Amino acid sequence: MSKAVDALRRQFPIFASRPAPFHYLDNAATGQICRPAADALIHYETAARANVKRGVYRLADEASVAFHKARAEMAAYLGAERPEEVIFTSGTTLALNIAAHALAPRLHEGDEILLSELEHHSNIVPWQLVAQQKGAKVRAIPVTDEGRLDYDALERVVTDRTRIVAVSHCSNVTGAVTDVGRIKEAASAVGALLVVDGAQRAPHGPLDVRALGCDLYACSGHKMFAATGCGVLWGRRELLDELPPFLGGGEMIRQVSIERSTFAPPPHRFEAGTPPIGAALAMGAAAAWLSTLDWGALTEREMALTGRLLDGLSAIDGVRIQGPRGLQGRAGVVSFDVEDVHAHDVCQMLDADGVCLRGGHHCAQPLMDRFGLAATTRASIALYNDEADIDALLTGLEKTIARLR
Ligand SMILES: Cc1ncc(COP(=O)(O)O)c(C=O)c1O
Repeated sequence: MSKAVDALRRQFPIFASRPAPFHYLDNAATGQICRPAADALIHYETAARANVKRGVYRLADEASVAFHKARAEMAAYLGAERPEEVIFTSGTTLALNIAAHALAPRLHEGDEILLSELEHHSNIVPWQLVAQQKGAKVRAIPVTDEGRLDYDALERVVTDRTRIVAVSHCSNVTGAVTDVGRIKEAASAVGALLVVDGAQRAPHGPLDVRALGCDLYACSGHKMFAATGCGVLWGRRELLDELPPFLGGGEMIRQVSIERSTFAPPPHRFEAGTPPIGAALAMGAAAAWLSTLDWGALTEREMALTGRLLDGLSAIDGVRIQGPRGLQGRAGVVSFDVEDVHAHDVCQMLDADGVCLRGGHHCAQPLMDRFGLAATTRASIALYNDEADIDALLTGLEKTIARLR
């Protein structure tokens, strides 16, 4: 193992506690928690725990200050203009549900919401729910055989009825990275808002949501090496100011009477009830730590590992990659299927060699339908992976295929 990877792994407690062999390649599902995030979580829960935004005693004030710091750390990581643009949620799923329900009043009968065929169910189902309520229609940008958005189809699928375009920044199945600029151009041409599901992009280095040109951006803490149970919805301040709340409850109001309520300004309007405080502090700490890393070098290494995996898979008889074969415009999420072998069997057999993979539809059934498959096996690379992880996968896969076919 290189010195650089070894130093990184020392920032992730799990590598010191799992028995070897341990090749964790299920990062698209959940990343491992980093030391700064774990420390922040444990410190809050054991030495600094109080509710936020309400108490006047010192401990409560300290918790509120720490919570605001985490918001500012996430704002800096995302490239937000102000911390108030960051709404803490339970994850990308809630973030996208808030987005869909807050935008719903802008929809009318016959309006269109444009998604893509490769979306995670989290970026499909909330839009279907609001479309059904409003008599709107959900449409999709088609996907090419290589598992990328078919940008040539934009002219056809973006219409003067398109009000919202919601796409993922990076596919959790094919690893294709979306050309958000191109989508933005098409959305802007018809005055549509752009929502981006950044669950798979956020773990790979700081972002610039303003430069990206989107209106709302969602991501999850547990995929960004923080704790489970927390995520973020970022929104352009001017837009958030105009949006109604989705969830009602404590701490999101200005004034409540029995008949009606008025609401607090963003982000509080969108954070009903006690937020996931410890997990938010962990997310802020992870974001602050990630911001200190050399992402030029890390990206180069992640892509080199992706190339090694793609080359290795291509050389194995009966293995078909479901996604771009080249490194251009892709991330280290690699799906494949094995002729005559179910994805779950592949995952189970490789588990015996300590290789953690995911098999299934990856909450992307429309994409599975597009590929004519029930499931794929997926390996997903994070900053702490190395050549030994990729080689263990490839060797284990060859062994599995020899045994099962
Ligand atoms: C692209 C994408 N969007 C949304 C989600 C949902 O994230 P969460 O389960 O953290 O809410 C995932 C999770 O795998 C994902 O990969």
